[in-house]
Amino acid sequence: MTHCITCSAPVNIAVIKYWGKSDEALLLPANSSVSVTLHQDQLQAQTTVAASHHFEKDRIWLNGQEQCINNPRIQNVIREIKRRARKQKTDSRDIAAERLNWKIHICSKNNFPTAAGLASSAAGYACLVYALKCLYKLEGDVSAIARCGSGSACRSVHGGFVVWDKGQRLDGSDSMARQIQPHTHWPDLRVLILVVNEQKKHTGSTEGMQVTMATSQLLKERIRSVPDKIEQITQAIHDRDFKTFAEITMKDSNQMHACCLDTYPPISYLTDVSRRIIHLVHCFNKHRQETTVAYTFDAGPNACLFLLKKDVKKFLHLVKRFFPPKTEEQDFIRGNTKQLMENL
Ligand code: PMV
Repeated sequence: MTHCITCSAPVNIAVIKYWGKSDEALLLPANSSVSVTLHQDQLQAQTTVAASHHFEKDRIWLNGQEQCINNPRIQNVIREIKRRARKQKTDSRDIAAERLNWKIHICSKNNFPTAAGLASSAAGYACLVYALKCLYKLEGDVSAIARCGSGSACRSVHGGFVVWDKGQRLDGSDSMARQIQPHTHWPDLRVLILVVNEQKKHTGSTEGMQVTMATSQLLKERIRSVPDKIEQITQAIHDRDFKTFAEITMKDSNQMHACCLDTYPPISYLTDVSRRIIHLVHCFNKHRQETTVAYTFDAGPNACLFLLKKDVKKFLHLVKRFFPPKTEEQDFIRGNTKQLMENL
């Protein structure tokens, strides 16, 4: 007999970033974070898990390529789900109990570049955990289990606007994500993803966070400042106050990347193209005399932009005009943007 479940989980974009761990083994964050989960039909991971008494060993494929199932994070997730499921089954004598002893096959794919700083691991682990939860009919919140795969994955377990509380307990049992507003709360908010480079990032987030934690003074200051920022951005989300939301988002992204540069040896995820996007956003906002677009960058050069529906067309027009770079771009780089903006 074979049991099979397919699930999908979307990417989440952090507006207050998680950068640094207080516990490497438990994947506990040095600071709480806030994110926006995209819609299911956009950037997403899709995972099928099958359990069968015919399977001889556990196996996993990512985007069609077999991966090593012994990856410690994948093992942590499978072990923790099974541990909880066994406990639940002993209490309820559930029929799904027999599946827990069968080997599993996992097949996962992303509809966007993997490991390019577009939160692919967040969507991937959230999806894997959710699919296993369904396979074993596990009840309760599984965001803390997704966290054991990739920290930010705990936020992709929920839709809409999400906070990941860093938690107080040393065992990490209260370090989990919760929804603060559903996506329906802010229907005209839009996200544009500008893919600058699809290549795998040069420094993975695990390694990057370790070195930043060990060497950056600025990170200590950042960690102290996060609780206030979370309070302010949560209020801005509740009030649908785009200006405050956008400004905190951009400043937090800049601060995370400043901490990466303050790392020794320094880490730079942003490229010249990323910096041109930052410049374009600020020029656009200045020209409009209000903050209408916000950027944020994870551990990679690709830009995630937040804006309201009414501004998408105008801003996209500008993006298409400047990217990929053409000759007028020189005017733009010199700061002579006024005329170009007026021609929009
Ligand atoms: O969950 P990880 O280990 O992929 O780390 C994610 C780190 C950032 O994407 C840069 C920030 C965040 O909060 O998602």
